[in-house]
Amino acid sequence: MEQREQWGSRIGLILAMAGNAIGLGNFLRFPVQAAQNGGGAFMIPYFVSFIVLGIPLMWVEWGIGRYGGVRGHGTAPGIFDALWKNRLAKYVGILGIFLPLVVLIYYTYICSWTLAFSLSSLLDLYPSPETALASASPKEYLLPYQSYLTAYIGADSEGIFLTPHPMAYVFFAITLGIGLTVLAKGISGGIEKLSKFAIPALFIMAFILFFRVITLTSPTDPSFTVSRGFSFLWEPDLSGLLDGKVWLAAAGQIFFTLSLGMGAILTYASYVKKDEDIALDGLSTASLNEFAEVVFGSTIAIVSAVIFFGPGGAREVAEAGAFDLGFISMPAVFGHMPFGRFFGFLWFLLLFFAGLTSIVALSQPVIAFFEDEFGWTRKRSVFWLGIFFVASVTIPMFLKGSLGEMDFWVATFALVILALFEMIIFLWIFGGERAWEEITRGAHIKVPRVFFYIMKYVTPLFLIVILCAWGYQELPKVIGKKGVGVWVARLFLAGLLFAHVAAVRAAWKRRKSA
Ligand code: ALA
Repeated sequence: MEQREQWGSRIGLILAMAGNAIGLGNFLRFPVQAAQNGGGAFMIPYFVSFIVLGIPLMWVEWGIGRYGGVRGHGTAPGIFDALWKNRLAKYVGILGIFLPLVVLIYYTYICSWTLAFSLSSLLDLYPSPETALASASPKEYLLPYQSYLTAYIGADSEGIFLTPHPMAYVFFAITLGIGLTVLAKGISGGIEKLSKFAIPALFIMAFILFFRVITLTSPTDPSFTVSRGFSFLWEPDLSGLLDGKVWLAAAGQIFFTLSLGMGAILTYASYVKKDEDIALDGLSTASLNEFAEVVFGSTIAIVSAVIFFGPGGAREVAEAGAFDLGFISMPAVFGHMPFGRFFGFLWFLLLFFAGLTSIVALSQPVIAFFEDEFGWTRKRSVFWLGIFFVASVTIPMFLKGSLGEMDFWVATFALVILALFEMIIFLWIFGGERAWEEITRGAHIKVPRVFFYIMKYVTPLFLIVILCAWGYQELPKVIGKKGVGVWVARLFLAGLLFAHVAAVRAAWKRRKSA
């Protein structure tokens, strides 16, 4: 067998994994989720989910990834097949390629906005607010910024992406082009190099913005202080503990932000050395991600919104839509400060780096699948990924309702299913003690044994509870949705899933005859 690629250095590996996890989820999704779910009330379920879902799943994905990589497989179909001698295993593993691929379609598009907006900030292209900040409601004051975003992405009052600005296509092509170029250069020559530059740069930019925000004074009301901004999130509030919706949001955020249940972490882990200290590396990845999320991500977007609009106003902005804090409130905040153009540029560039390093991570599973299971070259695999991209983006993306539909089935529902299969196959079918040995082999830290029991019992149970709660709370709403966009998205997902089944069948046939 030909030698698989490997990460060039340990620091490169950790930065690449951090780049995989740290993404738009940390800086855009987290502040919105936290603000919408009661600020302090969100944080306890969030940290509990981090301990019982995030850390165990991170170790499990590193463990199965390294196990598969040593045997020549970097994606879930091959790895599950090696762990579980059952003909169904490879089909279950399809989710590990299908899922990141679907997320990638809209993730790349949203990431391309950040590149465009970094230039909008630098060139100061935003229209000025018509009302004075002190006398306007947040909604009124933010109206021009809202219209700017709306015009760019082509939203109407009911949906998005109907008639995007021509530049939206240009920036999408640029973002896609950069991503594919990095991927074509390979694991250590492309992804690792990008991460070694982009992740330290991201932390520096985040630190500058963090410092700027914590030295802000309110232009509207002297009682909207920095410490009120912090207490919005950090004042413990037990009211969320009995609210299923808050728990679902917290668990969902942990999955999304750590790139778990997506197949992306396990694919990166398949390129580690056979005795890599994955226990410590996995923990470092999770810690770097959480630092970026709860320190930088929350402070920059939430504290600044509280200083400008007060706690009620910040919540109102977060509730108005998924992109309002990052794309609407932040430019307004920067528009009101000296050197705001520069800070606005930094903010969107930071988002772009965060997004780009996750785009390559979400792309790598399908490339690894082509390389490992079909023996294709990297360049050929990247080429076909590019073709897929262009085709799929033009089909479902610009229809009303499509994005929400894809996001639900994939980024909310299917990743919990994949995570559950990972836990069951590794901890129960492959065997608890064997799995523990895989995770702790080569470790220089002592992983507390209590995590063995958490992984084996608590995490799977928690996942099952989440699935049932989602099924009960969300499924009826989603199934009842109507509209052409919704049905196109469903057909698209079904067709893509079918194509994955055919590809796995073909790969295993090829393997048999080889
Ligand atoms: N983990 C990635 C993010 O947070 C997907 O955006």
